[in-house]
Amino acid sequence: MTAQIIDGKQTAAKVREDLARRIAADDSEEMPVLAVVLVGENEASRIYVRNKKKAAAEVGIGCEVLEFSDSIGEHALLEAIGELNDNPHVNGIIVQLPLPEHINPLRVLSNIRPEKDVDGFNPYNAGLLACREPDAVVSATPRGILKLLETTGIELAGKHAVVIGRSNIVGRPAAMLLLNRDCTVSITHSKTENLPAIVRQADIVIAACGQAGLVKKEWIKEGAAVIDVGINRVNGKLCGDVDFEGVSEKAAFITPVPGGVGPMTVAMLLENTYEAFRKQRFAGQAHECRCGSHGCGCSHH
Ligand code: GUN
Repeated sequence: MTAQIIDGKQTAAKVREDLARRIAADDSEEMPVLAVVLVGENEASRIYVRNKKKAAAEVGIGCEVLEFSDSIGEHALLEAIGELNDNPHVNGIIVQLPLPEHINPLRVLSNIRPEKDVDGFNPYNAGLLACREPDAVVSATPRGILKLLETTGIELAGKHAVVIGRSNIVGRPAAMLLLNRDCTVSITHSKTENLPAIVRQADIVIAACGQAGLVKKEWIKEGAAVIDVGINRVNGKLCGDVDFEGVSEKAAFITPVPGGVGPMTVAMLLENTYEAFRKQRFAGQAHECRCGSHGCGCSHH
């Protein structure tokens, strides 16, 4: 078998085109705005933020990048987030990770108002996802993974999905999302015993462990769908957590690196931002509605 390549670049372009069309047709006088908080000089983070800003502009989302030096204290960072929370023109807030060692990321992420938390990293949103609440803001990479799986047309319900990696950003939320779609989910990690034997049972493999080429052809069940979330640099070359050449001979579907999950992350972040914008506008109308203002345009009249 030679795997069919799941084209993340193409799917992401389509998500962005649809989004640009919806934003252009939106009758709001305001533009959706995403605020990105960037702390320090991490080179990869700077590249990711630049990509997000460029992609936002292309679909009609304003993007304000707030840059802080490595030496900023946690208190000052929380104050900056508080101002963004209170700014009615800001619809989405993300804090680019990783943060410097002296700052507690969970405390920072917990301070983003849940309805503006378009990365879905606030534990409140992570909890809603775990409770299968449709109102949860779901982080971008897992949403992108699910969208790519949907393009294959495979039925998810009842399938065994094996997630390799248990990070808050990818492994855990991806596992919850797949569980909510009625997959049987195994979450594996660096301490898992007999990992190849567990992966061999998988109909769906999500590789998100940050180890270049870890997942081998011999680990893969014939006909599996393999999603590679890894972004590793080996001898200057980008590669994923999956041995692409070998695994392609066994799997039915596989994502490439680059051009798989990566472009989807940005596209889904923009979609989350537009959804936050719409929900906030609707919440504003509901508020007018509660003070008895007929003709406010809200759907309750
Ligand atoms: N660092 C690595 N991936 C991400 C992401 O999706 N969002 C943020 N904010 N930081 C990251």
